[in-house]
Amino acid sequence: MTNFRTFILGLAASFGLPWLCLIVLPAMQYEQLTPVAYDKDKDGVEGYFPPAPVNGQGQLVYIREGCNQCHTQMIRPVQLGLDGWYKGWGQDQEARPAAPARPSVLRDYLGEKYALLGIQRVGPDLANFGWRAKDKAAIYQHLYSPRSVHDWSTMPAYTGLFKLQKIQGPVSEHAVKLPKKFAPPAGYEIVPTPEAERLAEYLLSLKKDYPVPGQSAAVAAAPAKK
Ligand code: HEC
Repeated sequence: MTNFRTFILGLAASFGLPWLCLIVLPAMQYEQLTPVAYDKDKDGVEGYFPPAPVNGQGQLVYIREGCNQCHTQMIRPVQLGLDGWYKGWGQDQEARPAAPARPSVLRDYLGEKYALLGIQRVGPDLANFGWRAKDKAAIYQHLYSPRSVHDWSTMPAYTGLFKLQKIQGPVSEHAVKLPKKFAPPAGYEIVPTPEAERLAEYLLSLKKDYPVPGQSAAVAAAPAKK
């Protein structure tokens, strides 16, 4: 019977310890975090870090549509001298940020209800998508028909977030602009639903590149003194 007890205790410890160290303690540490103020002299910026919350309603659409199954929002930290992110990586996919991106930190997610770190990197990391997004119109076209942007895209078309409607009077100013091959039949237009609008606003609000107060990255990001 003692063996059985050791077995149960061992079992509890082998699941309990990782649970405690990987889930409970980090969660408690995260809950105590609050936004910190920038030091104007050291960081070169004013206000609080993180500066702006993301669009919460759009985030719910992002979660419901399962975007985080394919997209991460986390740039790996540097560990044991192994860089998680090199400037220039993924350049074959154009539209990379020109400025070096910094690794994500815990506080980056304070303005969000859920921290959508993601599971796999099937699509590009979206941690800084807000910086490289052109505008809402470009996002709508990509969501409605990813293949009209990149003919090799494996991203699903989120046509459910849009409405096909008969043109009555002038064409809607929000109508999705598509190349001929993907365009709706004559006399019809494709307009984003309010959900698509919130989702686009959320994507535009994704900016995890703000300087971290008191870190060397902040100094590097600040304009060089002459
Ligand atoms: C099956 C995997 C998959 C899912 C699910 C998915 N994507 Fe993508 N996504 C991709 C791939 C692959 C690309 C790169 C090819 C391209 O640009 O279409 C991409 C590209 C993007 C880009 C352009 C990124 C850049 O750096 O230019 C955005 C924005 C985007 N996805 C948003 C979304 C949103 C929002 C959703 C949910 C509504 C979503 N994705 C769901 C695979 C996916």
